[in-house]
Amino acid sequence: MWFASDNSGPAHPAVLDALVRANDGYSAGYGAEPAMARVTERIREQFEAPQAAVFLLGTGTAANALALACLCPPWAGVFCHRHAHVEEDECGAIGFYTGGASLVLVPGSDGRMEPGALAAAIARKGGAVHQIQRGAVSLTQATEAGAVHSLDHLRALADVARTHGLPVHMDGARFSNALVALDCAPAEMTWRAGVDVLSFGGAKNGMLGVEAVVFFDPARAWEFQLRRKRAGHLVSKHRYLSAQFEAYLADDLWRDMARTANARAARLAAGIAALPGGRLNHPTEANEVFAAFPRAAHRRALAAGAQYYLWSFDDPAGQTLDGPDAGPVSARLVCNWATTEAEVDGFLGVLRAEKITQRA
Ligand SMILES: Cc1ncc(COP(=O)(O)O)c(C=O)c1O
Repeated sequence: MWFASDNSGPAHPAVLDALVRANDGYSAGYGAEPAMARVTERIREQFEAPQAAVFLLGTGTAANALALACLCPPWAGVFCHRHAHVEEDECGAIGFYTGGASLVLVPGSDGRMEPGALAAAIARKGGAVHQIQRGAVSLTQATEAGAVHSLDHLRALADVARTHGLPVHMDGARFSNALVALDCAPAEMTWRAGVDVLSFGGAKNGMLGVEAVVFFDPARAWEFQLRRKRAGHLVSKHRYLSAQFEAYLADDLWRDMARTANARAARLAAGIAALPGGRLNHPTEANEVFAAFPRAAHRRALAAGAQYYLWSFDDPAGQTLDGPDAGPVSARLVCNWATTEAEVDGFLGVLRAEKITQRA
């Protein structure tokens, strides 16, 4: 009953097998290995973007920060949702790697910036030498609140950015989960909607530790390479990154894993919503469930060894163990490709105070 994070889940065996195969003998490093050329080709095919430049890194924070450093000068701002990962969970990496750019926070429900609010935030910046200038827009798909931007919403945000001549970055730590939720082509959810650069997540969806950065316009590719090296994120034994990504993209493994994770989250969300005192705090549209349920149920779940975070963007009182049994706690529960139906059902049973039957 481990719902703390999707990166708590295991790597897929096909990814591990690929690593074992990649370990055979000698290979060029730093991305010069043949597997990297194949990964680039495969991503170009999948995204219908024959010019795309593709780079691999070990963490999503490095992917986001180094990508944004290519888009935003030090004196400008990155417009992002007020709860974006780049704002709340990257320890100021965007400011560090851009050499000083600010984050300009934009409101909107369920982790989606509201296009009018984005336009207003952009309008307030720029102009006089005293002001933060306009740099780039960064949006998160799937969002930090477990929702998915529709294609229309993505286009609306990108249109606002375009009106002001700003490039668009997508934090796709959960790109695959959003993609299968929308059941669309990768191109539709990225460059055709106006996205210039994508952080294409891996670790949360069954990889050991690799993320891709995809530039749909390769003009900034050389700058990215220099920044990645200078930041210490160009991995010498790069074959172990490309081997993972090759396995990910083979036989649709990335989509299959994301579909499983989303299906488990949907089952979990439906079960919690049906509990007395249970409700969803945000819609479950990918693999994360943001929900509230009675504190007594939370205590039972803890006692049964369930793992998840108490989490609420707006209600700090809902995040404490102290309080009346009937009072609600707010939690984030995340499913991954390895989450089983039995695990979900077992957890729901604990919340419902069903008797746990011991297996012989
Ligand atoms: C939306 C989002 N972006 C990026 C990341 C990348 O994080 P990390 O640097 O831990 O790989 C995460 C991980 O939690 C995330 O949830």
